[in-house]
Amino acid sequence: MKLDSIVPWGRSFEEYRSVFALSEDDLDKRLLGCGDGPACFNAELTQRGGTVVSVDPVYQFTGDQIRSRIEEVYPQIMRQMEQNSDNYIWESIKDVSALGQVRMAAMQQFLSDYDSGLEAGRYTCASLPTLPFDDQQFELALCSHFLFLYSDHFDVAQHIEGMKELCRVATEVRVYPLLSLDGKRSKHLSTVIEALEGNGVRTSLQPVDYQFQKGATEMLVAYAV
Ligand SMILES: C[S@@+](CC[C@H](N)C(=O)[O-])C[C@H]1O[C@@H](n2cnc3c(N)ncnc32)[C@H](O)[C@@H]1O
Repeated sequence: MKLDSIVPWGRSFEEYRSVFALSEDDLDKRLLGCGDGPACFNAELTQRGGTVVSVDPVYQFTGDQIRSRIEEVYPQIMRQMEQNSDNYIWESIKDVSALGQVRMAAMQQFLSDYDSGLEAGRYTCASLPTLPFDDQQFELALCSHFLFLYSDHFDVAQHIEGMKELCRVATEVRVYPLLSLDGKRSKHLSTVIEALEGNGVRTSLQPVDYQFQKGATEMLVAYAV
């Protein structure tokens, strides 16, 4: 992974909470965030007394490197969002400029926490399909805006291996969204579900309240056996 190939973009704690329908009980669990990048879920949950580890290949870079890359790509992402704004529901976030503020605040919070989190082992550099964790080390793994979203970049076998690995390290796995970048349901979803069920993993599609990308109304929940 090269620094100039990454596009850091991170969501807020409240977005994670809504995207994954996280209850207060869920927030007390041993949590894993897979592909958390510069989201501030880890920073804020830690501040609230929760237990969470984030894993992402981007954590091979220093905070200064990630910060400079955020500053570089931010205007490009804002332009793309303006161009594609019809694909989103502008209610809880009222427009592209408000979106920029929410995401930038989340990434700043991540950056402020990054060095101490690295030292504490809360940010771990690794990539699916191989995670450096014990079987069932976590009670709940969350994967936001990575699996299924990049269905044209990662094939179905990679999705199946990734999901199996998440089910190895966590008792329950939640993934959102189930759409790919073109806004359509991921072409891998049904095959991945069949493969997991064939492997003894129970799955269900559950509605979420979060409304932003049009059509992204469900998360996949998988329960390892
Ligand atoms: C669009 S970002 C989502 C960031 C965050 N989860 C959020 O929702 O705000 C996708 C993240 O997936 C990470 N990623 C890419 N390949 C990965 C892999 N093989 N395993 C885990 N994470 C990966 C990227 O580095 C990036 O941080």
